[in-house]
Amino acid sequence: MLISPSVLNADLSRLHAQVDSIAAVADMIHLDVMDNHFVPNLTFGLPVIESLLQSSDIRADCHLMIDDPDRWAPPYARAGAYSVTFHVEAARDPARVCADIRKAGARAGVAVKPGTDLGEIDVLGDALDMILVMTVEPGFGGQSFMAEMLEKVTRARRLADRAEGDVWVQVDGGVGPDTIALCAEAGANVFVAGSAVFRAADPAAMVESLRSIAAHA
Ligand code: DX5
Ligand code: ZN
Repeated sequence: MLISPSVLNADLSRLHAQVDSIAAVADMIHLDVMDNHFVPNLTFGLPVIESLLQSSDIRADCHLMIDDPDRWAPPYARAGAYSVTFHVEAARDPARVCADIRKAGARAGVAVKPGTDLGEIDVLGDALDMILVMTVEPGFGGQSFMAEMLEKVTRARRLADRAEGDVWVQVDGGVGPDTIALCAEAGANVFVAGSAVFRAADPAAMVESLRSIAAHA
């Protein structure tokens, strides 16, 4: 059970301090890169993540909601990200992007939007290290969890277990104390939580309590 807090709804003017506040208890930090093309929102990109990685030891879980990941995903891996996830809907050659990410030393993740069938990533077989099942439409933090995605999480878990390596299943969007147990029961093992963590009075304590709810589900 891995908890990956998303800084999307944190105070980004104090990015480093916000990351520090959960670094001791979180397994990774989830960094949402948006380009205002693939999604209708704009956040930060490679220079910000490079700077963060130079001054923090936390594992970076980069979620790229951008066009042309074929070109832009591998540089995040080269910058030292632990995991780089791109959207299958945006990629021309998803298997190739996975291979390039791995070659650059990161785990390769593939994300699917709520309307995208898992069949789209079926063909990737052993090329990927993580399936990200979006449980909201990508683009914004603080949205409500889509319970109808739980079935997809279970199917993603089956796909993951069929693969040779240690393939993770991540959920992202509306994950918090009230929804994390459902996700764990459905088969997820990596949980992104944005507003649940950074809008909590004590973000580190929230990370611990999310992990414990997931572990007991
Ligand atoms: C949404 C992002 C999420 C977002 C999650 O497009 O991919 O990572 O930050 O935020 P919450 O947990 O608030 O739904
Ligand atoms: Zn995300």
